[in-house]
Amino acid sequence: MNDFFANNRARLATRLEGGVVVMSAYSAMQRGNDTSFSFEQEANFWWLSGIEAPDWWLIIDGARGKSWLAAPTISESHQIFDGSVSAEQALAVSAVDAVIAHAEALDLLRDLAKKHSTVYALGDQPHAEYLDFVLNPAAKKLHDTLARLFTSVQDCRREMAQLRAIKQPQEIVAMKQAISLTADAFGYVRQKLPTLRYEYEVEAEFSYYFRRHGAKGHAYDPIVAGGGNACTLHYVDNQSKLKKRELLLLDIGARSGGYAADITRTYAVGEPTKRQLAVHGAVQDAQRQIIGLLKPDLLIEEYHQGVDVIMKRALVSLGLMNDESDDVNYRRYFPHAISHGLGIDVHDSLGGPRYLQPGMVLTVEPGIYIPDEGIGVRIEDDILITDTGHTNLSARLSTDLS
Ligand code: GLY
Ligand code: MN
Ligand code: MN
Repeated sequence: MNDFFANNRARLATRLEGGVVVMSAYSAMQRGNDTSFSFEQEANFWWLSGIEAPDWWLIIDGARGKSWLAAPTISESHQIFDGSVSAEQALAVSAVDAVIAHAEALDLLRDLAKKHSTVYALGDQPHAEYLDFVLNPAAKKLHDTLARLFTSVQDCRREMAQLRAIKQPQEIVAMKQAISLTADAFGYVRQKLPTLRYEYEVEAEFSYYFRRHGAKGHAYDPIVAGGGNACTLHYVDNQSKLKKRELLLLDIGARSGGYAADITRTYAVGEPTKRQLAVHGAVQDAQRQIIGLLKPDLLIEEYHQGVDVIMKRALVSLGLMNDESDDVNYRRYFPHAISHGLGIDVHDSLGGPRYLQPGMVLTVEPGIYIPDEGIGVRIEDDILITDTGHTNLSARLSTDLS
């Protein structure tokens, strides 16, 4: 695996024409009084280093083809309670040239700043204004340190996203594994569904299956939404009782080998009504048609135009839009994006491409949500763009309602 991280660093260095790059791991985040949330690494840092622990730095000197990991200073009591990654372990995983201490890293950066006026680092988080949580402070802290040492700090987020968007063979293997495990878990839980009475019982079966089969766990908070709960797009309460005449939307993905799956199915708990069948059928047909559009060189703009035509037709057929110019009802009943990149992050940036390229993995997730009728249906698959078209990596999991 260490070739993977070393090659990724070399590819970034080439892309940045030999510049200096410095990145930080995430810091651990407070959960309660004196406890932290279970740690999840910043995806770019992991892709370049393989390190899964907080507060490390990675320094790359592209011109000299050298890289270092700087270890955080860990107190004796922290060491006793939480342990740490040793220098030997860090070297073995990452294949950097050396592991150095934090103070040494500052000396190294001062030295690099004498030869390079510019340093590359991760800039501001895109769309931060739309996020309703506190950002991890690590990148900003590093940015402030770099701004004191170098004349200019340039954002390399887009270059990173573009490199990460085209999955390498071993990344596709890991993604297939995460997706396959998730599909198996859906099959396992679906069989048990008649015996389950609450949303949280369904969630527990997925959690059990993932851990029992070696996955790290959920790649994101699982959405287990009965009836109208499915109309809250990121519903994660998962506390309600399942009702016989309601649908159940499951949006769930395992994290395995560092990569995320992201699959949604909507099932009938009992005998579905005619209306539920019609809404589900419309989403299922639309999803099939939309996946059929995907191929290399497809312009993103053209893809979105194709999606609009298909989804509007579906909504008109259900009597939810008057005609295809009724954009208010279009956004009302289909209020989210059709696709996003998938990888280490469940929403992995594709780097703002103009068109699709082989090696990209993206979701296709049309949904129709009718709060007044207590119906929410979404169907989501994970699609790899290939040289000749696409492969649906979650195809073997039926999208049928029951
Ligand atoms: N599970 C989050 C999403 O589908 O984007
Ligand atoms: Mn998704
Ligand atoms: Mn999803």
